[in-house]
Parts: sequence; C-alpha cells; structure tokens
Amino acid sequence: MTLDRKDFPPDFLFGAATSSYQIEGHAHGGAGSTHWDSFAATPGNVRDGSDGARACDHYHRYSEDLQLMADAGFNAYRFSTSWARVLPEGKGAPNQAGLDFYDRLVDEICAKGMQPWWTLYHWELPSALADSGGWRNRDTALRLGDFAALMADKIGDRVQAAAPINEPWCVAWLSHFLGHHAPGLRDIRAATRAMHHVMLGHGAAIQAWRAAGIDQLGAVLNVETALPATAADTEAACEYDGLYNRWYAEAIASGEYPADILGAVEQHMPAGWQEDLKLISQPLDWLGVNFYTGKRLARGKSAKFGDIDELPGDLPVTSMGWEICPDWLEEWLLRLNQTFGEKLPIYVTENGMASGSGLQDSDRIDYLQGHFQAALRAQKQGVDLRGYFVWSLLDNYEWAYGYGERFGLVHVDFDTLERTPKASYDWIKALIAGK
Ligand code: FCB
Repeated sequence: MTLDRKDFPPDFLFGAATSSYQIEGHAHGGAGSTHWDSFAATPGNVRDGSDGARACDHYHRYSEDLQLMADAGFNAYRFSTSWARVLPEGKGAPNQAGLDFYDRLVDEICAKGMQPWWTLYHWELPSALADSGGWRNRDTALRLGDFAALMADKIGDRVQAAAPINEPWCVAWLSHFLGHHAPGLRDIRAATRAMHHVMLGHGAAIQAWRAAGIDQLGAVLNVETALPATAADTEAACEYDGLYNRWYAEAIASGEYPADILGAVEQHMPAGWQEDLKLISQPLDWLGVNFYTGKRLARGKSAKFGDIDELPGDLPVTSMGWEICPDWLEEWLLRLNQTFGEKLPIYVTENGMASGSGLQDSDRIDYLQGHFQAALRAQKQGVDLRGYFVWSLLDNYEWAYGYGERFGLVHVDFDTLERTPKASYDWIKALIAGK
C-alpha cells in the first residue's frame, strides 16, 4: 500500500526537524563554548573525533535551507535555539548577534509560509554552567527558565509552538549514567540529579512562557520499546522502560515519578524534590513524540540497578544498528495517549533513519512510509495525531557518531557544504503535494 495525501486530514502538519549544534556551526557568530565542544575534544568520545564548529554552516546558509523546506511544501519547521549562542556564559549578558540570528531565522520561516516550532534546549549546555555542575546543579534548571524568558521576548510573538527540552532521557541518563553524550559521566548520583533537574528545567521554562503569554506549549519526549531478550528478562526490560520512558512521561502527565525507579534512586535525589512536581506537571497543550526504535534487554553482569545489556534482535536495522519496526510507533502513540488521559494533541516530533545509501535512499522512503502508515493506524484508533516532523532536513553532526551517520532528506557534502536533495526529499515533496 502506498501513501496518499488524502490518507491524512487536510490540516495535518508536515514538518522537518533540526537542532542548533548539529547544523549551525558553533564557531560562528560569537557563540560561547559548550559541554559538547569539550566532550568532543576528548579522545574516544566521538567516533570520528569531530565537533559542531562548522557543521552544515546553517548560521550563514539558513535562507537556502529554509528554501529547501519551503520547496518541499513543508508546513512547519522544528528548530532549536542554542543557549550558548544567545548567552555565552549561560546567564548574564546576551550575545546580540545570537539573538538577532534567531530573530532573522523566525522571520524567514514565517515569510516562507511555514510555522516555527521552537525547541528551547537541544543539548548544547554553556560550558560555564557545566563548570558549576551542569544538570547536577539545581541552578541550571532555573537558569533555563531565564533563558526561556529572554528568548520569549525576542521570538515569542511569532513562534507557533514551543517545547523546553528535547528528549530529557538523553540529557539525563544517556549523558550522566551511560556516558555516551556530554558531559560523559557514569555516575548514578549525577544521573539521578540530572533526571530531576531536567524535569525542573522543563517546568521552569513552561512557567516563564505562560507568564510571557506564549501558548501552544508542549514537551518533546523520546520513547523506545523495551522488550525482554528472554522470558527471564522481564524485570530488566521493565526497569529500562521506567528509566527511559515512564520517568519523564509520568512526571509530566501525573506529577509523580514511577515508584519502582524512584525506590532505586531516591537516596540520590536532591533535597525537596517533591515540591517541584507541581511545576513539572503543569498542563500542556500538546505532546511531542520522538520515536526511532526498540531494544531487547537483559540484566547485565553486575546485576546492579541500571546495568542492562542491549542484545541484537532479528529485524532489519538502520546503519546505526537500530531495529526497524513501525508497529512499535503505533503502540507508542496509543500508550502515550492513555498516559496523558486521551486529551492531548500529539505530534511525532522526530522520526527518520540513518542510512549510508546516498542520494538514492529508497530505504529511507520505505522507513518513513512504514512509520507514517503506523501513525495513521493509531490515529484511526482515536489518537489525536496532528502532525509529523521528519528527522532530519539535512545530514548533520550526529553527536557521538560524528558526521558518519546521515539522517538527512538532503545530502550535505561536508567539504563543500553543497546541499543535494535525496530521493526521500522528492518522495515527501510529492506526498505533501498530493501527487
Ligand atoms: C534524537 C535527537 C537528534 C538526533 C536523532 C537521530 O535522539 O534528538 O538530535 O540525534 O536522535
């Protein structure tokens, strides 16, 4: 079955997503240093040793990139604002060139007939805040609220929708327990504090935005299907599900952390955490779901909390080894719809695949087609699914994988920076146009 524009409601939003550090080029425009710069400068952390200093040079080429968005017929562009570009020290004096960049960017998104979908923080923590403990420090969460207010003043009048933090699990667990992302820690206490403070940062930013009169506020959560590798591994899979999925979704949806995970980490929680849950669970206007894959899980050798091995499955995989299963997306949309009381509009805010197939990326077309269809199945079962953002517009800096893994609808030659639309770009353009 092939997809048709008519399969989607007429007002369905088609978008593509990017993030600041992955595309802008952080060496340009007076941005301050971030914990990703120092993480990337540390041997062994990033596969090809690269960083985001130049990336796609979107800072200078944003107009061309937005034209690619508009030419494909996208209705919405999901972008993020770099904290260190705007506030090189994380707080204090803003960098005017940074503020002006986002002002121009949002103007141009609107001028090209698209809705600006704004993510406040997509991982590039200013080094000055990292030096004082980063997400281990409560102050970082409160400073995120200040950053939200400052940016609201600058671009809040034109953005269509906003979310404070991209993928809290990555900010907390992936970066402070698994050590795969900046700041590269492997420490249960650091991870626990980050797990709470990242949620507090979400609450602080939502509060600042409500006070500034911005509406259409949401959260962007990443979810992964957690399957036991064998029948003996249900407990490990449940723990993974709690750490990855339930911690963040339940804190926001019901103002409580899941008891099984809390029981294991409570000794490391910062004092007074209970009082923050009201702020964390403020009502939202929409939920964003980033979905890519699922994992087969087994208890690790140490048998300690959090020690969970990921075993290979038997489904086809992307070039990053992520199993491909569109049914999992359908299940997730149904599950989150329940978690949030079947009343929140839902958007898929990221979905896509890494592939080395170059310009003729029929594998990416198949992946997207399968996931679009899965999302439509969920919609038919009552999920209020309003839109879908593909990750990503451009090949970009894929964090610890460097420039080797390509998610773009548009190919980027990282020597010349030339952009070339792939077959998947033409496919989605035709889909949106109803051809
Ligand atoms: C998500 C991130 C995004 C990108 C994709 C592949 O977890 O939000 O920046 O790395 O994965």
